[in-house]
Order: sequence, then structure tokens, then C-alpha cells
Amino acid sequence: MLIRTAEQDIERVLYTEKAIAARVEEIGTQLTKKLGDKRPVLVCVLKGASFFYIDLCRCMNCAIDMDFISVSSYGAGAQSTGVVRLIKDLDNNITGRDVVIVEDIIDSGLTMHYLKELLAARKPSSITTVSFLDKASCHDKSLKTDICGFEIPDEFVVGYGLDYANYYRNLPYIGILRPECYQ
Ligand code: IMP
Ligand code: MG
Repeated sequence: MLIRTAEQDIERVLYTEKAIAARVEEIGTQLTKKLGDKRPVLVCVLKGASFFYIDLCRCMNCAIDMDFISVSSYGAGAQSTGVVRLIKDLDNNITGRDVVIVEDIIDSGLTMHYLKELLAARKPSSITTVSFLDKASCHDKSLKTDICGFEIPDEFVVGYGLDYANYYRNLPYIGILRPECYQ
């Protein structure tokens, strides 16, 4: 039996499982303090944010509603196509609700901008944007999220939900993918 492992494709580990868990716990505490009495709707941006989202929900010490949305801007490549497409909408109405958009990573900022506009049009009471990772050098400051797990350099990273062509999502850490794996 040939088992395909990812270790040889990872140039360097940026954040270990332990470092990730500690930071997610901090963000959960911060969000609970901010919205704990409001029963916020946490919106998971599929599929990349899924691991972060589930861990974050578990770290929230208050009542929450969970909902899922799916958009695509990358297709199967490592470069954004520049066009965001809605693939799956939320199941529930968010009018008058306190919404938290949970993303995996902000690169150009286009996806989060699109999502914020889309959901703002439904007149929620508030929107808080959260991204686990942020390539701060790749976008304008105005596109920064309200809460960010870690700022990272402009490298293509995988693991903890992040993929390249749907591979590597299940790695428990965040690692930089060797350029020869996507060039
Ligand atoms: P943006 O619209 O350019 O900000 O890109 C955001 C989306 O692109 C994220 O939701 C990710 O799915 C994907 N993405 C951006 N950078 C990376 C990366 O380094 N690794 C994996 N996916 C990425
Ligand atoms: Mg992706």
C-alpha cells in the first residue's frame, strides 16, 4: 500500500498545532467578550475556514448560531482569479443579527470584501470579520479584518483547512508549500 504523505512538500512549518490552539482560544475569548450576550451567528467560509471555525466555535463560551457559506475565487490554482463566485448561500436569515464572518486567510482581500458587502445588504445588526491568517503586505490597510490570528509573509501556505487544489487541508499545522509543488 502506498500512502501519500505531505511532509516532503512542506518547506517550513509556520504554526504548530499547539500554537494554533493557543491563538484560537484567545480569539474565542475575545469574541465571547464582545458578543457573548448577543447570540451571534458565526458564518464559516467553506472550505478553507472549516478547521478554524469548528475550533473557534468550541472556544466560544456563549450561545451561538452556526451557518455556512461557500465562495470561490481560486479555482484549482494558487493565484486568485479576481472574480468571486457564490457557490452556497447561508441557510438562515441574518437581518437584525450580530454576524461574525470566519475566514481562513486574507490575501488580496477581495473575498472578504465581497462577503461583507453581500451580508451587509441583508441588514444585520453588526458584522465582525475574523481571519485566521492575513498576508498584510498583499492588500490595502482598509481591507484588514477586525480580528486576525496571525500576520504572515507573502507565501503560499497550506494545512489547518488551507489547500492547494484541495490537497493538504488535513495537515494539523500551517506550513509553507514548496514552490515546485504549485509552479
Ligand atoms: P483573497 O480574495 O485574495 O483575499 O483570497 C482569499 C482566499 O484565497 C482564501 O479564502 C483562501 O481560500 C485562498 N488563499 C489565499 N491565499 C492562500 C494561501 O496561501 N494558501 C491557500 N489558500 C489561499
Ligand atoms: Mg481555498
